[in-house]
Amino acid sequence: MTDFDLDRFAVIADVHGNADALAAVLADIDALGLRSIFNLGDHVSGPMAPRETLELTMARAGMVSIRGNHDRWVAAGGENMNPSDRFAREDLTDAQLAWLTALPATRRVGDVFACHGTPRDDLEYWLETVTPAGDVAFRGLAGIARAALGVDAGLALCAHTHLPRRVDLPDGRVIVNPGSVGCPGYEDVEPFPHVVQTGTPLASYAVAERRGEAWATSFRQVPYDPARMAGIARAAGREGWARAVATGWLRGAPLSPSAR
Ligand SMILES: [Fe+2]
Repeated sequence: MTDFDLDRFAVIADVHGNADALAAVLADIDALGLRSIFNLGDHVSGPMAPRETLELTMARAGMVSIRGNHDRWVAAGGENMNPSDRFAREDLTDAQLAWLTALPATRRVGDVFACHGTPRDDLEYWLETVTPAGDVAFRGLAGIARAALGVDAGLALCAHTHLPRRVDLPDGRVIVNPGSVGCPGYEDVEPFPHVVQTGTPLASYAVAERRGEAWATSFRQVPYDPARMAGIARAAGREGWARAVATGWLRGAPLSPSAR
């Protein structure tokens, strides 16, 4: 950990087994000369390349990883796994499952706190809220600050909603969600049925850089060829995953090039 650069690092999350998106992001991180990475989990779960994803992840030096809710479910196994978790569990090696099982839910390194959802709950959206109508909206200060109670780090990192966003609390603490490396669209039923779609297939992550007492952040969207990953999803009968990974849109047929 002495090697970890706490003044300048990448923040990645929600790879969801998309090994080609992860490879593109790691190459982009290398091109920027960054040697340190926080990885906020949901490494696997998704009908793409979970084993390859963990090969890349576990081999990467300078990466601090935590687990996401799907990693927790994949590690636990059992009859009630959803198809994406089951796909991952069946593809992983015993050593990879052991690595996944050992991941902590949160980490504190220096002045940086990392979690998947919120500090206390890997299923809670920190910066967004879901309305009964199914709209995913900015959560607003009261709810965001309430979820931040007890976090004494200057910079808090979260993920889970796949939506890149930075929020500065009035007390100076900063919360950053880097978006999703490998899954630009998904649907969920809790707390109300809703769809998240970023509207771009590019791989999303963030860079944080200390400037005195402040944090400079930048959000990056990295192009890569999603054809192989979308093809695996389609072959597994997961057309929604294939469409989201290929286009960034889960719902609604995107315009074909000839219709532009
Ligand atoms: Fe998640």
